[in-house]
Amino acid sequence: MNKTIFITGGAGFIGSHVVRLFVTKYPDYKIVNIDKLTYAGNLENLKDIDQKPNYSFEKADIVDAQRINDLFEQYKPDGVIHLAAESHVDRSISNPTEFIYTNIVGTVNLLNAARTIWKDNSEEKRFYHISTDEVYGSLGDEGLFTEETPYDPRSPYSAAKASSDHLVRAYNHTFKLPAVISNC
Ligand SMILES: NC(=O)c1ccc[n+]([C@@H]2O[C@H](COP(=O)([O-])OP(=O)(O)OC[C@H]3O[C@@H](n4cnc5c(N)ncnc54)[C@H](O)[C@@H]3O)[C@@H](O)[C@H]2O)c1
Repeated sequence: MNKTIFITGGAGFIGSHVVRLFVTKYPDYKIVNIDKLTYAGNLENLKDIDQKPNYSFEKADIVDAQRINDLFEQYKPDGVIHLAAESHVDRSISNPTEFIYTNIVGTVNLLNAARTIWKDNSEEKRFYHISTDEVYGSLGDEGLFTEETPYDPRSPYSAAKASSDHLVRAYNHTFKLPAVISNC
């Protein structure tokens, strides 16, 4: 296999489409789907591709730093597409703490593991963090957000996502980790 790519949250709504796209479009890449399978994750989403030779699934909680470090050590990924998150605003209002663990601590665990594994050679490596437009607040009927829009999260969900964005930026700046953010 040419490259190994970790996709976190690959059993979820968006992640399952990303996994399918990569598995089918890049047969010479090894795609490893890392997902805790919370209420939001469902492997039925991936039934059509789960027997492909370039696909593996690892049931893991990104909050478990040791497990994440072990997976990085085992597979030595070239790239990470990080989608795993607690993502439902209503649930963040009834239970904010879970969002802090998964969205902030889980992201830091992945950043630390990538930093450790790539410290001697980060050439052609990439940590791709998926965020949300909700970190910029809410729009009315008009207007748009740009990369220059100030952060203004309004819910525990978007505050936790905003925190993870800041950490990704900080790791890029401080440790030169090749990390980028997409606010979809
Ligand atoms: N759906 C949207 O409209 C939307 C919009 C903007 C941004 N996003 C972002 O895109 C990403 C994916 O969103 P989605 O709608 O597919 O989410 P989703 O809730 O459908 O899926 C999240 C996935 O992450 C997994 N997961 C949750 N906690 C985990 C943990 N601790 N360890 C490992 N896996 C865990 C779940 O099992 C699930 O498979 C998220 O980061 C979200 O913030 C989503």
